[in-house]
Amino acid sequence: MARYDEIHRRSLDDPDGFWREAAEGIDWHTPFETVFDGSRWFAGGELNTCHNALDRHAPDRAALIYVSPVSGTERVYSYGELLDETARMAGLLRQLGVGRGDTVVIYMPMIPEAVIAMLACARIGAVHSVVFGGFAAPELAARIDHARPKVVLSASCGIEPGRIVEYKPLLDAALAQAAHQPSRCVIVQRPQAVAEMGERDLDWAEQVAKAPWTECEWVSATDPLYILYTSGTTGLPKGIVRDNGGHAVALHWSMKNIYDMSPGEVFWAASDVGWVVGHSYIVYGPLLAGCTSVLYEGKPVGTPDAGMFWRVAADNHVKALFTAPTAIRAIKKEDPSGRLMRDHGLKYLFLAGERLDPDTYHWARELLGVPVIDHWWQTETGWPVAANCMGIEPLATKPGSPTVPVPGYDVRVLDENGVECPPGVDGNIVVRLPLPPGCSPTLYRDHARYEQAYLSRFPGHYLTGDGGHLDDDGYLFVMGRTDDVINVAGHRLSTGAMEEVIATHPDVAECAVIGVADALKGQLPAGFVVLKSGVTRSAEEISADLVRLVRERIGPVAAFKQVSVVARLPKTRSGKILRSTMRAIADGRDYRPPSTIEDPAALDEIAEVIRPA
Ligand code: COA
Ligand code: AMP
Repeated sequence: MARYDEIHRRSLDDPDGFWREAAEGIDWHTPFETVFDGSRWFAGGELNTCHNALDRHAPDRAALIYVSPVSGTERVYSYGELLDETARMAGLLRQLGVGRGDTVVIYMPMIPEAVIAMLACARIGAVHSVVFGGFAAPELAARIDHARPKVVLSASCGIEPGRIVEYKPLLDAALAQAAHQPSRCVIVQRPQAVAEMGERDLDWAEQVAKAPWTECEWVSATDPLYILYTSGTTGLPKGIVRDNGGHAVALHWSMKNIYDMSPGEVFWAASDVGWVVGHSYIVYGPLLAGCTSVLYEGKPVGTPDAGMFWRVAADNHVKALFTAPTAIRAIKKEDPSGRLMRDHGLKYLFLAGERLDPDTYHWARELLGVPVIDHWWQTETGWPVAANCMGIEPLATKPGSPTVPVPGYDVRVLDENGVECPPGVDGNIVVRLPLPPGCSPTLYRDHARYEQAYLSRFPGHYLTGDGGHLDDDGYLFVMGRTDDVINVAGHRLSTGAMEEVIATHPDVAECAVIGVADALKGQLPAGFVVLKSGVTRSAEEISADLVRLVRERIGPVAAFKQVSVVARLPKTRSGKILRSTMRAIADGRDYRPPSTIEDPAALDEIAEVIRPA
């Protein structure tokens, strides 16, 4: 561990020197004045993220490989081609009145135009906010109202196995609900479902074809590059802000040091541009490092089969594949003997987004015959907090652990009183401030919420919201969230948001939603509802209403399908529902009813529903 130890120690002892050196991997228009001024990284510096991701690389090198089994399309974009389309899209945005600091919402499936849209915003200093396609219209409307975009970029449809998801009617419904209105919507027309266009809508292909090629605008290192909304504990998502300078430096550094990727090598993050993994490792990371990135529009299974990941990897000479454990579990279910896994050509499999269970780890490790690297991070950090850094020094793995803190992160485990836990004892996982470059420095238009959510619980530390421990060797074990966030098939969702939707049903008196373990998706939401007295409709009818309501208001991605009607919910004497005890029961952990419990029998009753004998 000597090399890792030395680099990690240096990153904490001399962050200025460490990150100054890392910043040499980025082209600066104006050099920064300070590396870290106590609150911001690289203040005074000017750069452009799109320049660093596109313009500076060899134009004939492959930048993006689009593989879309669901539409039967494959296309390779060279850096020159991607730059050309991006620069013209940037020109169109300018013509539509979008300038530096303006926001643009992107609601798109996994098509190259989504990547072009993000980079085009970066090129002119506009701030993009991508909304995942699996969210329903009200969620999109909430993000539009918060981000207040000048323009929305979207597509006529996405393609899910067995069904076409028409995005344009969803966008129209969202705009009908939103208070804020963009001046224009630019729509990519896909042949699978051509959208009806309204007065403010423009056709992407027609407009970009005649738009002027546009140069990069230099922005401050501390200017925002994007906003990405993520689930918090309430229905109102948190607008994570990423700045240009810190983000470019950290992601560029991570490609070599964590993922062992060099320019020209092929990296594939099988995620979605709507999530942070897509932002960091489909779009920005690989392109900042001059790698080739695979953009995959399909699923691990069923498009057409469980061998697709391995064929795409082999055909495109992918060195490192990054996906969520749930994708591997889906493949394992369909192809348990690994019959379709031969000849993948991969050097590494990286997994993140949820806990990697040891069974899945061992299965993938044995059948793929390559290192399987669990690593842990969050939308807030934008890049890994704990990992086995392949570009520094491969360390021995311990199943169930994402290995060790990444250089730049001073990870600690604190008990409820803020005292450091001894090795092996679970507590709150925190990062001692300052956070390294790339981590979100604030929440969009709500710095008070940032301070309250992340910095107030343990002063001087960033609260990750995850619980776990460090062992004697300094390996981190992440056991799960300590709040109302759940991870469903690697998708981060808020149980609080689901409760808010359920509570609007006229027959529901009160409710609780918790995550319960699921063999495929890791967790699934389960709702427990108490009905108002005098309700005559059946529990089945009301449950069906609630499932439909969550799907319509939050989206299919919530996968909310389990509702139990119960006589009462376990509470404290002050009326607080015992969600964390319910979570402990669902996870099969030991639990002790709090001394403030109102009626212990209520807890026994709910335990029987959650985990029937
Ligand atoms: N647009 C519209 N709908 C979408 C969507 C999108 N971009 N993405 C998902 N959905 C819908 C699905 O069609 C599905 O709808 P259904 O209830 O009608 O079947 C629902 O949302 C749930 O989707 P998903 O979570 O993908 O579950 P699934 O059962 O279709 O597939 C897996 C299960 C494991 C194959 C799938 O979750 C997967 O590939 N996960 C990979 C992990 C990943 O990408 N994580 C991102 C963070 S790294
Ligand atoms: P997201 O912001 O969508 O990336 O989700 C972040 C959350 O996913 C974390 O706070 C963890 O709860 C969970 N998570 C991500 N990666 C891992 C991992 N490798 N092991 C355990 N949990 C993880």
